[in-house]
Amino acid sequence: MCGIVGYIGWREAAPVLVGGLKSLEYRGYDSFGVATGTDSIMVAKRKGRISEQADCVSGCHGTRGIGHTRWATHGLPDDRNAHPHTDCTGQFAIVHNGIIENYAELRRGLEGRCHRFTSDTDSEVIAHLIEEAWEGDFAAAVRAVLPLLEGSYAILAVCAGSDEVIAARERSPLVIGLGDDEFFACSDSTPIVEYTRNIMVLEDGDLVVMRRGAVAVENGGETVVRETTYIDYDIEASRKGGFEHFMLKEIFEQPDVFQQSFRLACTHQGISMLLSRARGVSVIACGTSYNAALLFRYFAEKECGVPVRVDLASEYRYLSTPDDEIVIAVSQSGETADTLSALKKAVASSCPTIAITNVQGSSITRAADHTIYTGAGPEISVAATKSYMGQFAAFVGLLAGMNCSDMSAVERSVRQVIEESLLTDVSEAVSLCAKASTIFYVGRGIFYPVALEGALKMKEISYIHAEGYAAGEIKHGPFALLSEETPAVAVCMPGDGYQSMLGNLREMKARGTPLIGIGYGDDIDLQDVADVCIPVPKGDAYAQVAAVTVIMQRIAYYTALALGQDIDKPRNLAKSVTVE
Ligand code: F6R
Repeated sequence: MCGIVGYIGWREAAPVLVGGLKSLEYRGYDSFGVATGTDSIMVAKRKGRISEQADCVSGCHGTRGIGHTRWATHGLPDDRNAHPHTDCTGQFAIVHNGIIENYAELRRGLEGRCHRFTSDTDSEVIAHLIEEAWEGDFAAAVRAVLPLLEGSYAILAVCAGSDEVIAARERSPLVIGLGDDEFFACSDSTPIVEYTRNIMVLEDGDLVVMRRGAVAVENGGETVVRETTYIDYDIEASRKGGFEHFMLKEIFEQPDVFQQSFRLACTHQGISMLLSRARGVSVIACGTSYNAALLFRYFAEKECGVPVRVDLASEYRYLSTPDDEIVIAVSQSGETADTLSALKKAVASSCPTIAITNVQGSSITRAADHTIYTGAGPEISVAATKSYMGQFAAFVGLLAGMNCSDMSAVERSVRQVIEESLLTDVSEAVSLCAKASTIFYVGRGIFYPVALEGALKMKEISYIHAEGYAAGEIKHGPFALLSEETPAVAVCMPGDGYQSMLGNLREMKARGTPLIGIGYGDDIDLQDVADVCIPVPKGDAYAQVAAVTVIMQRIAYYTALALGQDIDKPRNLAKSVTVE
């Protein structure tokens, strides 16, 4: 988590850094800061969001500098713990994304040697260690410090009196933008694309020395050359385009996202063939991506007879997993630390690996044997919506190849029901939800993952406690919580498990639970039992999943809106979770 940005070139650095940090705020936004200057280092940092108080950097001048937007891991989100951090003399300033696991031991040693600390962070040790290692050569000092650090880091550092910006990476993302007589170093390419599309993705162990007009990369003491990639990025797609929130805009992009991602996945016939012949497939992911992966399990097992297991990436390392499975890692950002470590475990076990991601050149694409990109475009809202739809579409595209079936009719029907579901009236459901302090989401079969995702969306942006359950499971404990105060959003679609679902709804109703039934508009049995019915446009199972997903996203969005929450940047969250 945290976003870092560095600049060296011919422009005033502070506005570049501020612009960059604003676009990286989705990685963390509890405090921010910048350091600029050449002869002396000027630091400005503060608790809160840069988008609301960017003028606090007005005293920072110079054509090189570093900046940071924070998602707190060590120490409260306050002014003291905001980055950049400096050494005792103020000669060196650093920003850091990652976790220095041995920082406590390093700090005790430094304090024993009379270094004075001004923050509670793990990161500050880096500045003091550079101070100790300094013998007149900035790059040599940073080079000497890196082997002392255990854990993960993307570090940017500046030194008063030196004309360099130094960057280093170990298990935290960092890219270099190669402009015209100027260089950028950032957690991802988002802040850079405005200036240049030529990006160099760094590898673990890389140390980069940037000067005006020259950039040098080394790894393990040897000079290395990293490939330059041209990034295709739609800047317009990263703006709000008249919508009140990115989340709403992204929800509305889903008809196109489904189509685009489905078509992209259909081009991977070879991967589909591999999957259809697999003894087993294992999918690893976190959060929303995990919920998308669960959908694949239901469809692949039923329609292709391929056994699929789905594991939370953060638990994968504790499991003993067969080495003859194909492993698919799913991650919107492609940088989620748990997903990346799980993928690396699969690679180490010699499993064939596939990455499904939305971000070109992201870390999981470099770790996996094959990559399938979702065509969701930049997703800015912290709560994932269109990327989930893109992942679902990618899975549907793979299933089409696994089944050797022409699913162009599915593509059309899904697109159509998404468009219709964007207009469905959800206002009564929103009124019920906005009053609640706990909401249950229930579904069976393919609608169980959809219920999990609906609940996740609701809790993260409205801050209402919401739990997704397999409807059959709710009697095994959660029933104790049911009352008139705990509404349930229940998916009740004709098909597998319909009668059992109706039975579950009646049992919940008998406990006083206000029911929001999501099903077909002409379903009189559902209308009988539910307090509020939300009609789902008719379609095949894929279309139903897409439609119910969109309806649930909109219930969450409008509930959060009614409660006045900060929808695009919910408290305590970050979009790219680069710590385990
Ligand atoms: C929820 C959400 C998170 C992410 C999770 C994994 O709306 O966005 O649950 O899905 O942090 O992120 P990625 O997909 O980037 O690996």
